[in-house]
Amino acid sequence: MGVAGSGLELVADVVRYVAGLLLRTVSRVVGLVFRVAPGALDLAFALKALVARCVAGLLLDLSFDLIPIGHVNPPLGCLIWSFPARRAENAGYAVFVEPLADSWGREIKSLRVSVTDKCNFRCTYCMPAEGLIWLPKQEVLTFEEIARLVRVMAGMGVSEIRLTGGEPLVRRDLPELVRMLTATPGVDDLSLTTNGVLLDRLAAPLVEAGLRRVNVSLDSLSHVKFAEITRRDALDAVLRGLEAAEAHPELRPIKVNCVAVKGFTEDEVPALAALARRKPYVVRFIEFMPLDADEAWEDDKVLTGAEIRAIVERHWPLEEIPAKASSTARRFRFADGRGELGFINPVSEPFCSTCDRIRLTADGHLRTCLFSRREWDLKTPMRAGVSDAQLATLVRQAVAQKELKHRISDPGFTRASRSMSQIGG
Ligand code: GTP
Ligand code: 5AD
Ligand code: SF4
Repeated sequence: MGVAGSGLELVADVVRYVAGLLLRTVSRVVGLVFRVAPGALDLAFALKALVARCVAGLLLDLSFDLIPIGHVNPPLGCLIWSFPARRAENAGYAVFVEPLADSWGREIKSLRVSVTDKCNFRCTYCMPAEGLIWLPKQEVLTFEEIARLVRVMAGMGVSEIRLTGGEPLVRRDLPELVRMLTATPGVDDLSLTTNGVLLDRLAAPLVEAGLRRVNVSLDSLSHVKFAEITRRDALDAVLRGLEAAEAHPELRPIKVNCVAVKGFTEDEVPALAALARRKPYVVRFIEFMPLDADEAWEDDKVLTGAEIRAIVERHWPLEEIPAKASSTARRFRFADGRGELGFINPVSEPFCSTCDRIRLTADGHLRTCLFSRREWDLKTPMRAGVSDAQLATLVRQAVAQKELKHRISDPGFTRASRSMSQIGG
């Protein structure tokens, strides 16, 4: 099971692996009962299965908390989980589909699709001032190719799709892709993460095409500081984009993402928190991660969620509210009930143990972690003519090797193989 650095590491891996196995087995049984024979459901049995599932999950989480080590790619898990998806449709009703799960027991429900590596901003925490070398057009997946991969993965239980970039709105005719994905069976939640600068023009066609959720980056409400961090004088355009989103009640929630950088963001916090009180936007502060192309990240540039919360609470007390287990953000409401904030703390409070995400790059590579150093090329086999079932097998093999967690705070941390705008956030 990998190269154990110590006996403790080996024990941790065994515990995780057994917990993962138990979790998958129980979730299969629960899935089977619910999907194949809902009429014959025995409630007592289902409850027992759910309790067992929770215990297995707890065990897995505990092992993450108690022993903060472990290594990647247990080969045994890969062997077990790499057999082909059993996508089956039988006599007109859906039969159980093998959940897409990794070797640590995490089920994959969410796919982030980068539709372009290009961007019209140059945020300091992401891109160099001069930009990057863009992918040649022929390397970028067509809408039909993206839709096919989404269809295959939706058939394996991936129900949430998020479109990202670079900046996704610079991809021509994006509403057309939204239309295609909205119509894909199994896709329940289609969302977009954008820098907002083109949202003014595109909000209406996107909503018309079926988009129901948007996250907009906004790091400062000061024109000078906005231009300093994005290297573009575009605050007013982004605010217009947010207004355009707000004008469509179908598009909710609207989330505002602010990447927090120490020495820069502290002074912006009160105004951004006030924005969440005066507008129907959930404002979320994100800890700066080492994914900037300039490689200027250092741990003392991370302004933690706890530090930001303390600044907010000098003005307005906050109360934590429940969030989905797989959520990137911890959610808080203002104690007086006016508005919501979120804290995405990947550095100070990693949420890898509940990660349900994989990523597709604009050039058709599957990445199983934001910090992956290895990718799985789906475009080449797809263009060579493989079947949907073969694509599903490739996805399953990749997911079986999903990384346990990121290692940002470990001494030997090695950066991801691409920077943020090329991955899609
Ligand atoms: P919601 O579903 O609306 O909560 O969106 P989200 O938070 O998953 O997506 P969004 O694109 O708004 O991303 C917000 C921040 O979370 C960005 O900085 C992402 O890079 C970061 N993020 C998203 N997924 C992961 C992840 O798996 N790991 C880490 N470390 N960060 C992530
Ligand atoms: N650290 C944290 N978040 C980042 N983003 C871009 N670069 C970084 C980074 N280095 C955010 C963007 C966007 C989302 C996709 O990722 O602000 O909201
Ligand atoms: Fe572009 Fe988003 Fe990166 Fe900023 S964070 S440069 S908006 S991809």
